[in-house]
Amino acid sequence: MSQQLSLFDDFAPALSEKDEILALRRELEEANYQYYVLSQPTLTDREFDEKMHRLEALEALHPELYDPASPSQHVGSDLSTPSSQSETPKSDNRSSSRLQAVFKPSSSGLDFVDSEAKKQTGFEQVQHRYPMLSLSNTYSEEEIRQWLDRVYKGLEGQTDVEIVCELKYDGLSISLWYENGRLTRALTRGDGQKGDDVIANILTIPSIPHQVEGEPATFEIRGEVLLPWQNFERINRQREQDEEPLFANPRNAASGTLKSLDPNVVRERGLDAYLYYVLGENLEGATHYDRLMSARQRGFHISDAIRLCHSVDEVMDFIHFWDTERRNLPVATDGVVLKVNSLKQQDILGFTAKTPRWAIAFKFEAEKQCTRLNSVSYQVGRTGAITPVANLDPVQLSGTVVKRATLNNEDFIRSLDLHEGDYVWVEKGGEIIPKITAVNVEKRDSNSPLSPIHFPTICPECGAPLVRIEGEAAWRCPNEATCPPQQKGKLEHFVARKAMNIDGLGSETIDLFYEQGWLRNIADIYALTAEQIAPLTGFGDKSAERIIQGIQLSKQVPWPRVLFAIGIRLVGETTAKKLAKRFHSVQLLQEASYDDLIAVEDVGDEIAKNIIAFFLSPDNQAIIQRLQEAGLQMIGTAAPTSDKQGPLAGLSIVISGTFSRHSRDEYKEMIEQYGGKNVGSVSAKTSFILAGDNMGPAKLEKAEKLGVKLLSEDEFLSMIQ
Ligand code: IVH
Repeated sequence: MSQQLSLFDDFAPALSEKDEILALRRELEEANYQYYVLSQPTLTDREFDEKMHRLEALEALHPELYDPASPSQHVGSDLSTPSSQSETPKSDNRSSSRLQAVFKPSSSGLDFVDSEAKKQTGFEQVQHRYPMLSLSNTYSEEEIRQWLDRVYKGLEGQTDVEIVCELKYDGLSISLWYENGRLTRALTRGDGQKGDDVIANILTIPSIPHQVEGEPATFEIRGEVLLPWQNFERINRQREQDEEPLFANPRNAASGTLKSLDPNVVRERGLDAYLYYVLGENLEGATHYDRLMSARQRGFHISDAIRLCHSVDEVMDFIHFWDTERRNLPVATDGVVLKVNSLKQQDILGFTAKTPRWAIAFKFEAEKQCTRLNSVSYQVGRTGAITPVANLDPVQLSGTVVKRATLNNEDFIRSLDLHEGDYVWVEKGGEIIPKITAVNVEKRDSNSPLSPIHFPTICPECGAPLVRIEGEAAWRCPNEATCPPQQKGKLEHFVARKAMNIDGLGSETIDLFYEQGWLRNIADIYALTAEQIAPLTGFGDKSAERIIQGIQLSKQVPWPRVLFAIGIRLVGETTAKKLAKRFHSVQLLQEASYDDLIAVEDVGDEIAKNIIAFFLSPDNQAIIQRLQEAGLQMIGTAAPTSDKQGPLAGLSIVISGTFSRHSRDEYKEMIEQYGGKNVGSVSAKTSFILAGDNMGPAKLEKAEKLGVKLLSEDEFLSMIQ
């Protein structure tokens, strides 16, 4: 204990420790926010855990500084908030647990349910019957031995102590409630006291039984929801094609998926679940292991990677075996969980203020490798941002061969003091893109000094001098108009599904047409002809026609999406919608003043300046004029709000499945705009179903039974045109 008492105040803690506590609280609170709310972790799990351990140790030294709001006292919450309903990847598996261990049912069977939450977020918030705790964790084998010693001591020399070793699954925890054998609720951990009921999504997971036989019929079982590696990779490949942001890891993907409001999307993604903890009154079985085995017999997915151990050596063997073998598993794991097997012994050991004394998690180190940095290349992005990329001697890491790693920006290169030919440590952490975490300075040869890496001053693609905008980490190429990757990037953004949705113009075709000199900017697309395309190798009349048809169809894309497609920096889909609502035509937007622009929700100083700069550029003015001449929708269609006379007047319409031309929300809006009513379930009164791909089987069956018509999205669009 390093107490440095102040000369003037005997009661004051050492100033440096108090300051450190306050700084750690701030830092961990911020890290939780970044992790849970923004889904952009700023600390690695290891760094977070170490800082949390340090905070807990310091707080134990200074009980007078106790603060219930300290991040050591609560878990970061996964509860949905009204604004978190986009697909925000987040999860709850990092916390080192900071909960009150009041381990008794919340009420006599009456669930406390917040139904209001459902209106706002789509999920009911329900009180957990038993608080959902976490586990204390360690990265050190020595601490595992110390924990075992504490267990033996706590059990006062009992010799028959068995430890169950299990894998620590890296997904998000779920609590399943079975009443009379039927699955009635599925709660996320939430804030540990109450969670979101995501049952509709959980019911899509094939390995979770909806109904179980046998006794007891009413109980709770907990486990981890995971997205298998294979499905994770498939989804990210698709997202890449659709130009949607990639999920950083399967845990984030599983978390985003579980909070989706559309069970069809969840089913399609293919989640799985591993269960590891049975709770309830009057349960049979005197041990944790027996309970798991009888749960398995009742049809629950219990992992085979479980071992009943009788000595420290057996525990260590399990840890060492799975530290490497886990690479062959279909799902992500990040450690091993050790639990005292006997439930009686668990009761004797009980809980600390925050975690069970009868369990602990040993966390695996992120896999890292040392390899040689051969060179650094500089990629120019769609917006001109320059990203340095390390080219490495290929090295095997977490199941894949790594040849390249991101270097973020110039400051990062400087902070590593990176030199060409350096040996560097590469880590995969939880992210898909490998990171360089340090230079292996010992491997530097002092006889042949290496030259430091210098960030370029001109664009590697077009030679324009780079600029660094104040406050930004990235250097940028300012030559938007003629820098090739920026031109191609703008074209790719323009044709993307969420923008103009031009079928047949993928990034390879754009590259090809770019090389032919046909495409330099987005207006050039509307000058393409079938005669020009057909003779190219691999095309022919049919595919040329298809491309031209796609281009023609894009002329019907409504103004808000055209505005998004033209690619003004920082004007994303949502901002474009808000701008288009306020400015009904491109002309009005062009004429808008700075003050007019910042009066629009979501539009701040930077976006307003970008819009003004965009329309001031003569190149852009020429492009906009050509787009108008080509017949694009640069004026909002004056669709009446709730048109009682509209083509859908008096119709009750159900939306089901996934769509490619518009989002589900856009279809909802259209139905209302054109006088119809969007209803949730199919009945005899339903006029028709707007049916996308993968329509839910229940709805399909009901529609067939009641003879309700299905309309494709194209049929629907021509109906309202
Ligand atoms: S037991 C009271 N067993 O790890 C103890 N948890 O950091 C209940 N986890 O919140 C948890 N695999 O989400 C347990 N085999 C396993 C686990 C496991 C993953 C998660 C769980 C927990 C977190 C703790």
